[in-house]
Amino acid sequence: MATILVAYASKGGATAEIAEWIGEGLRRAGAATEVRRADDVASLEGFDAVVVGGPLYMGKVLRPVPAFFSRHRAELASRPVALFVSGGSLGKNDPEAEQKARAAAEAVSGDVPIAALGLFGGRVSSRNVPLIGRFLRNAMPEEDTRNRTAIEGWADALPTRLGL
Ligand SMILES: Cc1cc2nc3c(=O)[nH]c(=O)nc-3n(C[C@H](O)[C@H](O)[C@H](O)COP(=O)(O)O)c2cc1C
Repeated sequence: MATILVAYASKGGATAEIAEWIGEGLRRAGAATEVRRADDVASLEGFDAVVVGGPLYMGKVLRPVPAFFSRHRAELASRPVALFVSGGSLGKNDPEAEQKARAAAEAVSGDVPIAALGLFGGRVSSRNVPLIGRFLRNAMPEEDTRNRTAIEGWADALPTRLGL
């Protein structure tokens, strides 16, 4: 049985939930799966494949994800890797937003080959909007564009796409 790590970054908890949903999907598919904060991962030893993901803030993937890629570049290059990015602009069938998210993902993964890239909606809420954003309510309306079914469908297909 393959052992998979799901490493994530999250400020307001929405991406942490996405990571848990992916973990549940992978376990259902028969893979032993550990879901951990990217910052808490010291080594990739013992993992056959890695799924890593984080939310977009100001057009960039949240810092612990690029830091994870920098820290583990060599270990990542020798394993199948999937990457997911979540964002308030995603999950709305907006090709321009998806293109920007793809560019942000590529900026993070660099030369590490990505076997599967997931682009998922996010949740804007009082948990992650800074105080100033709450005053500018129209600029940042609260909404949840995460689609658990789509995320689980992506997770179901992952073992095959990761070649496990
Ligand atoms: C200050 C701020 C900036 C954001 N910037 C972006 C962005 O550039 N693109 C995007 O798609 N979503 C953006 N979002 C939405 C977040 O990606 C979304 O809320 C995400 O689900 C948060 O994940 P988290 O709860 O795991 O931190 C932003 C949200 C906030 C509060």
